[in-house]
Amino acid sequence: KRLILVGPPGSGKGTQSPIIKDEFCLCHLATGDMLRAAVAAKTPLGIKAKEAMDKGELVSDDLVVGIIDEAIKKPSCQKGFILDGFPRTVAQAEKLDAMLENQGNKIDKVLNFEIADPVLEERITGRWIHPASGRSYHTKFAPPKTPGVDDVTGEPLIQRKDDNAAVLKSRLDAFHAQTEPVINYYNNKNLVAHLHAEKPPSDVTAEVRNALKS
Ligand code: AP5
Ligand code: ZN
Repeated sequence: KRLILVGPPGSGKGTQSPIIKDEFCLCHLATGDMLRAAVAAKTPLGIKAKEAMDKGELVSDDLVVGIIDEAIKKPSCQKGFILDGFPRTVAQAEKLDAMLENQGNKIDKVLNFEIADPVLEERITGRWIHPASGRSYHTKFAPPKTPGVDDVTGEPLIQRKDDNAAVLKSRLDAFHAQTEPVINYYNNKNLVAHLHAEKPPSDVTAEVRNALKS
């Protein structure tokens, strides 16, 4: 299957992705994770992306389309993939359609993580991540066994630079202005499954499984 996960910051895309990935043997392509890795490694892409990311604004379409174009051609992604955080503008969605059409493929389902804005601040400010694996924790909702330490590797957890109330506001503005039209774009193609993303993680997982049955 070829899936898209769309939803505001903190809606649970990155939390559900590893579960879907394992159950359906798909590759997980998260543009945010790839961009953060590029910023950390100070690659030319990272240097170009950093300023927009720190402000909570979207990185230019050309940069992210380039990353995805390269990633979906990889042999490991031929059976299917989860796009987490892409496309985020209608222009990105149109480019993705064109890329897939060239390969004779198409999107099977768009999972829309629906949740009200006020819930998101607590989720974002309490999040701690293990940068190497992308695993995320939450001080209240999904605490690690030892505070500040990854359960699997024992390595330290960090907070994302954009995970504060002020930058969250810009990220939400970008979501409403630029990404909500993407949901309409796929609604018109009858591809969207709506999830109640405010529910506990296991309930959301059940809704995801249900949506992927059909
Ligand atoms: P990106 O990394 O994609 O961030 P985002 O969309 O803001 O999404 P998040 O990662 O914050 O949320 P999530 O839904 O994954 O939440 P999670 O599951 O971790 O993008 C970052 C930046 O990169 C952008 O601002 C932009 O600059 C740039 N960028 C990326 N893609 C781009 C693109 N295509 N075009 C242009 N620019 C792009 O959950 C959050 C927390 O809540 C965790 O602590 C988790 O444990 C907890 N939690 C999760 N689910 C639940 C639940 N059901 N109940 C309680 N707690 C929960
Ligand atoms: Zn994420």
